[in-house]
Amino acid sequence: MKGNKIKIFTVLSLLVFTMTVGFQADDPAEINSRERLGEKLFFDPILSKDQSISCASCHKPEFAFADTSAVSLGVGGTKGARNTPTVTNLSGRSHLFWDGRSASLEEQALQPIINPVEMNLSAHEALERLNSSKLYVELFKKVFNSLPTEKNMLQAIAAYERTLETSNSPYDRYINGDDHAISPAAVRGRMLFIGKANCNTCHSGEDFTADRFKSIGLFNGKELNDAGRYEVTKNAEHIGEFKIPGLRNVGVTAPYMHNGMFKTLKEVINYYNAPDDVVKNGKNRDLALSKPLGLTKDEINDLEAFLISLTDDRFVKK
Ligand code: HEC
Ligand code: HEC
Repeated sequence: MKGNKIKIFTVLSLLVFTMTVGFQADDPAEINSRERLGEKLFFDPILSKDQSISCASCHKPEFAFADTSAVSLGVGGTKGARNTPTVTNLSGRSHLFWDGRSASLEEQALQPIINPVEMNLSAHEALERLNSSKLYVELFKKVFNSLPTEKNMLQAIAAYERTLETSNSPYDRYINGDDHAISPAAVRGRMLFIGKANCNTCHSGEDFTADRFKSIGLFNGKELNDAGRYEVTKNAEHIGEFKIPGLRNVGVTAPYMHNGMFKTLKEVINYYNAPDDVVKNGKNRDLALSKPLGLTKDEINDLEAFLISLTDDRFVKK
């Protein structure tokens, strides 16, 4: 009786655990593709120095694979310099990181592992660990017909990230012909987004990014001192430029911007509405933002409703 109770308890706890953590397949028999192997690696703290954090510690599934901290927190709670972006809808992106310093998901995936303020583990140590794990050796052999190498480890992680495309949002249903999928406020917000508020000059295309670098004026050389794209190119014209982020799921990825300086979408919209009221002497601000937008309170609410309608169903809090 007692033994059975313990068994039932264990099975129930495991069930609850898998349900809450979700997203990851952990049964080795089910891991038979690059994507599934990459998923396991993405959620496994084995790739951090003290085995305390995984990619998913910062890219949390419940916040559309972003987090809620202004700047990221790495091993031992070390503060990073930038806000954790979502890793959804990246398969079509030409540049990764806020300053665009990586050109592919494969190239990108090594950086957080070896970054001292993130996972702080050398590539050499990471591979040593994978190669001394019976399970990983078995899985890599099954999927790649090879032992774990830097190349196939990064290929697996990137393959998993490419599965994180989202297109089941109220907005998508609206675009596909369901007129009632989004609220009247969101419909008005969409018209503002492509009209008076001029957001789609930069946030264009199906993921709402033109995949370019722009300065919206969040660098002033004082308290706002991250020069963004300039750090990569050393071209003075690029001071204060950052990658235009896609806006899908932005309703659940607060706080916002490269430095997490805006806590809510309202704060973001208020900034665009009248930048000079919020940031003094923002350098190099794009000409598209040279004049205040003159949005009314109702229009600001409408734009916010539109942005929230871009949230994929799986990230909507029940
Ligand atoms: C300590 C928190 C943290 C951990 C752990 C972490 N990341 Fe990140 N990630 C960030 C931050 C912060 C950025 C933005 C850094 C920048 O732009 O300079 C980022 C950027 C990215 C990007 C680029 C997104 C874009 O829109 O350009 C990808 C992809 C990514 N991370 C994947 C991963 C993977 C894969 C792992 C695990 C191997 C990982 N991250 C681990 C915090 C983290
Ligand atoms: C001139 C190009 C440009 C225009 C116009 C523009 N944006 Fe942006 N947007 C950007 C860039 C670049 C960033 C990142 C800036 C940074 O981090 O310093 C950004 C960031 C954002 C973010 C934060 C996303 C995140 O994940 O942190 C939101 C939300 C946003 N924009 C919404 C809008 C809305 C709404 C409008 C119209 C009112 C708009 N944008 C107009 C270029 C633009």
